[in-house]
Amino acid sequence: MDGNGRWALKRGLPRLAGHKAGTENLRRIIRACVEFGVKYLTIYAFSTENWGRPREEVNGLMRILEDVIDRELQELKDQGVQLRHLGRLDQLAPNLQEKVLFAVQTTEQNSRLIVNVAFNYGGRDEIVQAIQQMIRDGVPAAEVSPELVSRYLYTAGVPDPDLIIRTSGELRISNFLIWQAAYSEWYVTPTFWPDFGKEEFQKALKTYAERDRRYGKVAAPEYEGSNG
Ligand code: IPE
Ligand code: MG
Repeated sequence: MDGNGRWALKRGLPRLAGHKAGTENLRRIIRACVEFGVKYLTIYAFSTENWGRPREEVNGLMRILEDVIDRELQELKDQGVQLRHLGRLDQLAPNLQEKVLFAVQTTEQNSRLIVNVAFNYGGRDEIVQAIQQMIRDGVPAAEVSPELVSRYLYTAGVPDPDLIIRTSGELRISNFLIWQAAYSEWYVTPTFWPDFGKEEFQKALKTYAERDRRYGKVAAPEYEGSNG
């Protein structure tokens, strides 16, 4: 969800106004996911590197998460959304930890759409905690496989992303799902996140549907000669 700050700057507004507009847009995109039948949505809301931003912005982003849970939890429940958290919870304020856990617990029976909220998430941090846990569990070296590693990540049980959308035109992964994104398709748009609405989301899904995913292999026989 990139570009909130620049969206605000363009309008002469404080950065936090951009983050608020970003959460408004998130409601639209969640509704669109339910409508389009998307089963998993993962949003990158706060990275392990975002702690390095000015304190006022960090506090603002924490408050926004709190407000969103307070205001939106009921509607999310009604829509059949299951919330999951990806990242390190123990570094958040105790009351925020409780709120996140409450939101996760009260939606765990839902299955229409699973929304993974990556908050205080970092891909390298995720892999490090997985390795630490494998060592603590005494996993023998020979048993370490890609499938086992996947089961130790915050995303255990969640399929790898088919499509990753990056808004605001940046051409980098920024520590997002670095393990899981091995064969994800990308859609990069110059649109700032608060302006990335339902129409462009649909366009991204359409573009994705036309991709030929080969996973390092060759094209399916019926496509041979066209783009192999
Ligand atoms: C939102 O956009 C991403 C978050 C960390 C919440 P940015 O805050 O990175 O916006 P830009 O990149 O400054 O425009
Ligand atoms: Mg940014």
